[in-house]
Amino acid sequence: MKRIEKVTDMAAVSGRLASEGKSIGFVPTMGYLHEGHLSLAREAGKENDVVIMSIFVNPAQFGPGEDFDSYPRDLERDAELAEKAGVDILFHPTPEEMYPENSEIRILPGRQADVLCGASRPGHFDGVLKVLTKLFHLTMPERAYFGQKDAQQLAIIETFVRDYNFPLEIRRVPTVREEDGLAKSSRNVRLTPEEREQAPAIYESLQQGARMFRESGDPDLALGTLRKSLGHIPGAETDYAEILEYPSLRPLSASSREAIIAAAVQFSGARLIDNILVNLE
Ligand code: PAJ
Repeated sequence: MKRIEKVTDMAAVSGRLASEGKSIGFVPTMGYLHEGHLSLAREAGKENDVVIMSIFVNPAQFGPGEDFDSYPRDLERDAELAEKAGVDILFHPTPEEMYPENSEIRILPGRQADVLCGASRPGHFDGVLKVLTKLFHLTMPERAYFGQKDAQQLAIIETFVRDYNFPLEIRRVPTVREEDGLAKSSRNVRLTPEEREQAPAIYESLQQGARMFRESGDPDLALGTLRKSLGHIPGAETDYAEILEYPSLRPLSASSREAIIAAAVQFSGARLIDNILVNLE
């Protein structure tokens, strides 16, 4: 596995690969890799000649007072895991390398970023689009891989890539979970042992909400079930619990084909998100 730190080197390598007609599968991450990230890399390996993974804890997508400084990092461990999962090129630039100066240009998401995590984390998705614009240009992928775990991010990126003609395909990869149902996340390591025991209740609550929604067809009833169940998790505060149309993230209507049931929960050391997609057809 080749490791690259410089933006110019990354651009030169992907340019050469593209000119040789090699298909590039790209997996952007913030590192502290787990089975969720690695499943994206394996998926990319199946469909492309070359897999590029980026590891970059992107300061632009963290708000003031959020966990940029304490975000878990372990590049050497990540490099070993990435190589085993079939990554050919690991791109891990420094913040100075990615953002040598504060750009005068802003890239702003629209209405899809006003709900769920976008409402609780103002500016978060601006930062995601900013870094991905740069990373897509630098890695020149034919396909880029994103997890359904971050379903709002996925929906916004699909819209961005479609509306602004990025010449690549976005591939959706299902959420990888621990055996007890907790969605794998780099932030899970920051849960206390007690919180780690409670955390699977997030997914259980989402499942209860989804069951109620499928049985009753009534989103308000399902939302009531979900919120009540989340409210019973000791030491956890519900940040949001919502049911919306997916991927538009508009309110549900009679013509909605897919719904997302999503929640964010704050524990003492980590804010965790999870969701379930429900087919309505
Ligand atoms: P990060 O949180 O490191 O996640 C990188 C990718 O892994 C995202 O596409 C995310 O949805 C996916 N992922 C995380 N946990 C997963 C799980 N349990 N199952 C399946 N996929 C999972 O998302 C980001 O980084 C950043 O916002 C980024 C896109 C890299 C831009 O900075």
